Amino acid sequence: MANIPSGNRDSFGSKFGVIAAAAGSAVGLGNIWRFPLVTTQNGGGAFLILYISFIVFIGIPVMLSEFSIGRRAQLNAFGSFKKLAPKTPWYLVGFLGILTAFAILSFYSAVAGWTLEYLVQAISGKLLHTDDYVKNFADFSTDVYRPLIWQMVFMFLTAIVVYAGIKKGIEKFTKILMPVLVILIGVVVVRSVSLPGAAEGIKYLFVPDWSAVNFKTVLMALGQAAFSLSIGMGTLITYGSYIQKDNHLLRTSSQVALADTSIAILSSLMVIPAIFAFSSVSIDQMSPGPGLVFEVLPAVFKAMPGGVIFAVVFFFLLAVAALTSTISVLEVVVAYLKEELGMTRGKATIIASVSISVLGVLATLSFSSLSGFHIFGLNIFDLLNFASANIMLTFGALFIVVFVGWKLGKSNFLDEISNKGEIKSVLHKIVFFIIRYIAPVAIGIIAVAALFIKGLT
Ligand code: PHE
Repeated sequence: MANIPSGNRDSFGSKFGVIAAAAGSAVGLGNIWRFPLVTTQNGGGAFLILYISFIVFIGIPVMLSEFSIGRRAQLNAFGSFKKLAPKTPWYLVGFLGILTAFAILSFYSAVAGWTLEYLVQAISGKLLHTDDYVKNFADFSTDVYRPLIWQMVFMFLTAIVVYAGIKKGIEKFTKILMPVLVILIGVVVVRSVSLPGAAEGIKYLFVPDWSAVNFKTVLMALGQAAFSLSIGMGTLITYGSYIQKDNHLLRTSSQVALADTSIAILSSLMVIPAIFAFSSVSIDQMSPGPGLVFEVLPAVFKAMPGGVIFAVVFFFLLAVAALTSTISVLEVVVAYLKEELGMTRGKATIIASVSISVLGVLATLSFSSLSGFHIFGLNIFDLLNFASANIMLTFGALFIVVFVGWKLGKSNFLDEISNKGEIKSVLHKIVFFIIRYIAPVAIGIIAVAALFIKGLT
């Protein structure tokens, strides 16, 4: 049961490694699959302004809270709370994070598996020789075996990286994959915005429509910001525990948030103008489910000169973005099993990925053999999606800021983020004020509202 002494812990080796790993976690299906559609359907530029405000005023403070908890305790999400608040029930927040990891990874790995299927379809040429893309997706997702096999393949890839450890696995891979991702997105953006008719899409994306903004839009912007930054479940507590003591945590948090937001905006520039140029489907009618990426975009690629190459590049980058996110979620569970239950990394990785896969099978089968099975009116996939992103993450983020603001306290927090007084910044006190007073109220509203409004985040 012994907690491994901090001196023996694996850690990130460089500042860029920390950014690559944390931005790798943040940038994922949430940016490319979800953000473009949520933005365009909720007032374009108006949503963007709200979203960016939440990233800056809520997202960065929560991220900084998580990093500081993890780095101070030098432990996994569960162990961190136990160490920083001994003999209190705060460890339950860490436990909630472990459960959230299970819930997120089980449906996220299903979608990640779809990206591999589509990558293969794009490479083999099948994708661009299809006429009915809605049917193509339905045929695939209702098949019992193919989605499961891809999901297992994706979990296996995730497990390999996590098994290799922090420096030699997560850091090494994200340091290579994140720049590749940025370059590929850049290539597709250039193609997309130079298409005839793209200007309409760009306008649609950025011109604010304040009439589309209501209370629910505000809540959606906050929820999307939390999901996209990977905050609220201990991913960044776990990664924080691997960050060197001389790292400037506020700067790192800001850089990760900037990278994540830039990629979300670039993803919109990649997707929306292309849809305006080629698709006959009105953007307002698309649902934020599989629709956009797996049903509409393939038709766009088919109509586009050189579409095969862009289809291959797109599904490859989607898979990469998803992989650098899934490893961060699996690491939460692996670090817990390793440090709290004394398992080796190998054993912890196998147990975590196999048990998550079992839940993942249920998520995937909810499109085929289990499609008739509903709980609270939702199939297992939708339930896991809804419960994790909308409820568990927002409550997690709420508990984390309350913990730092009211339990860990000002002096411990400032001591940690200033590297024992070395970094002097007025921003540190401002951020603490936000963490103690503003963030709990704002997140509290969304967390409670999330229980009542379906499809919020
Ligand atoms: N941020 C990831 C995305 O946008 C999803 C994620 C959520 C990853 C929570 C880790 C933890 O796709």
